[in-house]
Amino acid sequence: MSVTYQNRNGIAVVTIDNPPVNAMSQAIRQQIWDIAGQIEADDAVQAVVLTGAGRLFVGGADITEFNRPPLEPHLTDLFTRIEDATKPWVVALHGVAMGGGVEIALACRARVAAPGSRFALPEVNIGIVPGAGGTQRLPRLIGVEAALPVVAENKTLGHEAALKLGLIDRVIEGDLVEGALAFAAEMLAGPLPVLARDRAIADPGAEFWQAASARIAKSSKGLTAPGRALEALRLGVEQGFAQGMAHERETFLTLKASAEAAALRYLFFAERAAPKPAALKGITPRAVSLAGVVGGGTMGTGIVAALRNAGINVVLSERDEAALTRAKDTLSGIFGAAAKRGLISQADVEARMAGIRFVIGYADMADCDLVIEAVFEELSVKREVFAALSQICRPDTILATNTSYIDPRQIADGFAGPERFIGLHFFSPAHVMKLLEIIPLPQTAPEVLASAFDLARRLGKVPAQSGICEGFIGNRILKRYRQEAEALVLAGVAWADIDAALRGFGYAMGPFEMQDLAGLDISYLNREAARARGEDIPTTPGDLLVRAGRKGQKTGGGWYDYTPGDRKPQLSAEAAQILAPLVAANPVQMDASAILDRLLAAMADEGQRILDEGIASDASVIDLVEVHGYGFPRGKGGPMLIAAGKKDEAK
Ligand code: NAI
Repeated sequence: MSVTYQNRNGIAVVTIDNPPVNAMSQAIRQQIWDIAGQIEADDAVQAVVLTGAGRLFVGGADITEFNRPPLEPHLTDLFTRIEDATKPWVVALHGVAMGGGVEIALACRARVAAPGSRFALPEVNIGIVPGAGGTQRLPRLIGVEAALPVVAENKTLGHEAALKLGLIDRVIEGDLVEGALAFAAEMLAGPLPVLARDRAIADPGAEFWQAASARIAKSSKGLTAPGRALEALRLGVEQGFAQGMAHERETFLTLKASAEAAALRYLFFAERAAPKPAALKGITPRAVSLAGVVGGGTMGTGIVAALRNAGINVVLSERDEAALTRAKDTLSGIFGAAAKRGLISQADVEARMAGIRFVIGYADMADCDLVIEAVFEELSVKREVFAALSQICRPDTILATNTSYIDPRQIADGFAGPERFIGLHFFSPAHVMKLLEIIPLPQTAPEVLASAFDLARRLGKVPAQSGICEGFIGNRILKRYRQEAEALVLAGVAWADIDAALRGFGYAMGPFEMQDLAGLDISYLNREAARARGEDIPTTPGDLLVRAGRKGQKTGGGWYDYTPGDRKPQLSAEAAQILAPLVAANPVQMDASAILDRLLAAMADEGQRILDEGIASDASVIDLVEVHGYGFPRGKGGPMLIAAGKKDEAK
């Protein structure tokens, strides 16, 4: 790890070399600071070219330093030193510049870049705003309208857009440092470019700010940082550079110390670790270029869409022509909707559909590298499918089940090639939801497990490995959460209060609204089946509602009433009357924080059991499951993080 400096005919080339991403740790800042001083004192140097070694320029600040007080020299001071230098600095960018990497570039006199370079200020993703001038210098270079989406909405600029907007001054084909040296020599011959901080900035006016605030309030989903980034940018426009810098710094430091930023950093590291379990190090996944999906219902079609979006060809098998036609319609609906939203082109829609072979039976699965089963949740149906597949497919075809609850050991029991079976549990809608639970069987080959992780990466999913238990990690915690919510209802707490508490916390919906949306009948049928097997399951509120014909939104009512065409839940006198025999006679008032404490504690308790049983390897895996599969608000980190914080507080 070092910063080096070399005099090339009167121009100093300063190279940051701190693998893997040239993060601007304290040591790197200090070295640049010292070199900047040496250069100022060196009469043999007239200008500076700043560059990064390796595959990218600078990936940003060193986030591992964020849990401690800031160490000198601060980036802000370093950048002022670069701006104040009498020898002009030119930055030569390649690969990616993020966060502090963009900010150091903004402090230089000029910027040149290799083709393919990309620029981003992703600070809002970890709950902070750019803290070293990003919200102030960028709009002075490229204008407020172009800067705002970069600063507050996580927009990445490619080299072409950056050139057009004036973020970079030249694209260098060929050797980047040579090109930058030539640029610097030319620059010295003429008047120097004006520093970003000294450039004029136009206020786009009240209407712009209003619309932008509204847009960001909506897209930020309750997170604080994006709105604060807009605020910092606006203040700098209205009150000038120095005020803007001071405000930005203060906002950065306050947010950095917030619980929300700590939660987002925690998820950032958890998401980075999730795809690379230590046990799979050095194990090569199998190539998957053709996948089979059995069952083209809700899940099967979503899985096919996810596979096609990742460029994987698919054979989709259904029971009959009518089911195949339905699946085909669903899929063209999914791709068509993406085209309508401008995410893909009409040609993409056609290409995606063309990459699916719609078939009946399993004969066409013979050549698949992987087959994912998504048929009805019934052991006998699933076993029929795998009995056929294990005969027809190549011996190295990976065979996966998307079961929600059935023990995958029972599904695979006795079939040829036990080492190739695995559980791949997607979430609905499978082409949208980020979570993929990966459930190895005791006999699953490491290579097959590695292939599942590799598939998650290709599909852009967050993998979470789960051991075998009823409901795996996610649905097991969901069950506990619902039980706890129902226990409160039985004790006399209004379900509307419970739903409101969870919405206030950041969920899109509370547990009862969620049941109405998903339908109450499936879990009712599960309970009835268990009762038929002789299990002793007491009558639940859901049983009474379903028996009265209230299965949720699809029947016009469940826990709530719905007017046709409107998903807004309305309090239901009928539901209250149906449930009266089960619910405590006297209503109990419980405030939102007490409701939350109860439900979050129940989730964390179940999570702790899951850890104790070895079903999950780490608390952060459980939190990833909740955030990416169950709508747990990202800014809160997850139930396990919250429980750990409470434990610390109690100490
Ligand atoms: P679904 O009922 O919408 O779809 C099942 C499809 O499988 C139907 O289209 C049916 O025609 C087809 N099928 C049945 N037997 C077949 C066979 N032998 N060959 C070919 N196709 C056959 O069910 P859904 O919701 O898609 O669930 C499928 C599986 O995914 C279940 O195991 C379920 O537990 C699981 N799952 C469901 C989730 C959900 O939110 N719906 C979430 C995660 C997993």
